[in-house]
Amino acid sequence: MSARLKVSNMSGTSAGRFPERRLVAIYPGSFDPLTNGHLDMIARGSRLADHLIVAILRNTQKQPLFSLEERFEMIDAATSTLTNIEVDSFEGLLVEYAARKSANAILRGIRAVSDYEAELQMALLNRRMRPETETVFLMAAEEYSFISSRIIKEIVTLGGDVSQFVPASVAARLRAKFSR
Ligand code: PNS
Repeated sequence: MSARLKVSNMSGTSAGRFPERRLVAIYPGSFDPLTNGHLDMIARGSRLADHLIVAILRNTQKQPLFSLEERFEMIDAATSTLTNIEVDSFEGLLVEYAARKSANAILRGIRAVSDYEAELQMALLNRRMRPETETVFLMAAEEYSFISSRIIKEIVTLGGDVSQFVPASVAARLRAKFSR
């Protein structure tokens, strides 16, 4: 019998000391388009959370390359093997959306120091507005740390091949958009 088991037996079952708690996390973003970096974050987030909501921002101020429906379809197709994922969209304040979804965490990825300042500002503001929802950061995997949706769009616009940086269905849709 291990030392840990003996200690736990002394105070009865350990279940009472670890109350049931569900982690409902939101992974928000523009996803215009979804990249392999996003996908890695979704896969890792889904292992961490009981339920992960991939939430696409509906931003009326910005004109995205892909419509909300297209972004939804691309994320849905690329995450079909993950069972605890929901793909949704939101408008307005993220913390208000988090409250509506009873989410206790916001998941964000950090690629490099350059991401830190903006992410810190958002996390601190979101915490002030809604302390019940904690922002959790995951470090981007090294192989994706230089990928962003913005740079992907720039490469495609200039005729480059982005198939190693985005899921196959996204690469196909990008090619279709720029092959005219
Ligand atoms: O993929 P992005 O563009 O980096 O995602 C940014 C996003 C969607 C997380 C951020 O812009 C956001 O949360 N927007 C919702 C509006 C809001 O709550 N703003 C205040 C944040 S402090």
